[in-house]
Amino acid sequence: MTREEQTAAFRQRRAEMMLGGGLDRVQAQHQRGKLTARERIDLLVDSGSFIEQQAYITGRTQDFGMADRRSAGDGVVTGSARIGERQVFLFAQDFTVLGGSLGEMHAERIAQVQELALKTGSPFIQINDSGGARIQEGVLSLDGYGKIFRNNSLASGVIPQFSIILGPCAGGAVYSPAITDFVFMVDGVSNMYITGPDVIRTVTGEEITHEELGGAAAHCGKSGVAHFRFANEQACMEAVRRLLSYLPANNMELPPLVDCGDPADRETPGLVSLIPEDDKKAYDIKDLISEVFDRDSFIEVQPDYAQTVVVGFARLAGRAVGIFANQPKVFAAAINIDSSDKAARFLRFCDAFNIPIVSLADVPGFLPGVEQEHGGIIRHGAKILYAIAEATVPKISLIVRKAYGGAYICMASKALGYDRVLAYPTAQIAVMGAEGAANIIFRKEISAAEDPETRRREKIEEFRRSVMDPYTSAGYGFVDDIIDPAQTRIELIRSVEMNIRKREDRPRKKHGNIPL
Ligand code: HXC
Repeated sequence: MTREEQTAAFRQRRAEMMLGGGLDRVQAQHQRGKLTARERIDLLVDSGSFIEQQAYITGRTQDFGMADRRSAGDGVVTGSARIGERQVFLFAQDFTVLGGSLGEMHAERIAQVQELALKTGSPFIQINDSGGARIQEGVLSLDGYGKIFRNNSLASGVIPQFSIILGPCAGGAVYSPAITDFVFMVDGVSNMYITGPDVIRTVTGEEITHEELGGAAAHCGKSGVAHFRFANEQACMEAVRRLLSYLPANNMELPPLVDCGDPADRETPGLVSLIPEDDKKAYDIKDLISEVFDRDSFIEVQPDYAQTVVVGFARLAGRAVGIFANQPKVFAAAINIDSSDKAARFLRFCDAFNIPIVSLADVPGFLPGVEQEHGGIIRHGAKILYAIAEATVPKISLIVRKAYGGAYICMASKALGYDRVLAYPTAQIAVMGAEGAANIIFRKEISAAEDPETRRREKIEEFRRSVMDPYTSAGYGFVDDIIDPAQTRIELIRSVEMNIRKREDRPRKKHGNIPL
């Protein structure tokens, strides 16, 4: 071959490679309402920044007619790219090649970029669209999954890892996304399940569609497996880029400081009237969040799941923080099994990646009930205590209204490790609410009174004034300052800044044993 012929052959081969499984399969992918692996990468990363790794890999298995099948890249595209200021490593499974199924060399490509991400301290993003373990390759595929799961686990807490589910993700394949930090899903495109509707029909007789079983609504609202849900792939990729901009590249770095365009000395007078005078009345904690933190900076994590707590990232004077808040609008903010899991996992992510924690407390306690007790609220609730106690990042708490019992300890206890605790003048801090407390400790006095109901009300008020008010806790040093709600933004910014250089060691150990 002449040099010209070689170059032409190279170009032809390259062009074919870019088409993955070929034009027909690309069209079929589009007809399903899905983008191809390369189109997805283009949508996600900065234009022209993608560098492909091991581009010419093909499968080695020859059995079952595999030698004759088109296997560009062995069904996955891997490499590195820039997203904003940041280098990332990534892969996108290519459903047009053997259904994106995972064989030996497919896994080899993925494992290599995972290892490069870890060595270079770069975030890792995986786009899943796959029929699962490549059936023709048997145990080689299972070995490949093993490598990937191991790398996901080793990278956990070292680099941020995101999973974007944009197609089927079935069987054991779901466990790689489950190990990563955040799972993104798109309505009508993403599916995750251990066994699909057919197997379920055979085993249990239940009838269910793919979407109902493992779609974005199921995992973002019911199972808690996924964190973010979108209407289309474009909106999903935009959200991935945005979330990444709040995070450090790895656990040795601090989150980027940005110019937020929202003054640090902005007062928040609207908060004076936000909290209802009647302490049983609901309000939306997200109104407080949007008033206090940098304008439009809040990214809520798992907004549709376990809504008695609200968690997410926001900025305070341009600095990323993690918000852990009670939501009085939902079940009076009582913490339950699912909200414990949601909060603890979020708090541990913040701690791993040097993101200060800001807790906003308005909580009557843990949710009572047989279902909760037998479901293990003790074990699950303990995760929050554990996560706060082990976190070494700055931990700031604001007691907005109620902080009772064990839930007070989760949200605002200096003994557990909060560095600075603030409270509104109307905050109530106690073992339990005034009514319950007065009924127990003044029971005899109330029943002996001429007018028990009036005496009961007097005792409740007395308890509220003398025991629950924030000055009592401040007198013990458990509250550092009682603040004017109009100063909330200013005070929180000052509180985070004064603790930002915090260094705290823990006893040496292999790792803790969080109650899972
Ligand atoms: C090999 C596969 C494959 C697989 C799909 N294909 N899955 N090839 N191994 N696991 C191939 C198909 O044969 C087909 O090739 C092409 O990909 C496209 O698949 P279709 O079925 O035509 O697409 P669609 O109708 O959209 O259905 C997609 C699907 C279905 C729902 C994913 O293909 C399916 O159910 N696949 C099997 C899923 C599965 O059971 N995987 C194993 C899970 S267990 P041709 O050439 O005919 O077009 C597992 C264990 C992991 O993964 C354990 C890890 C610890």
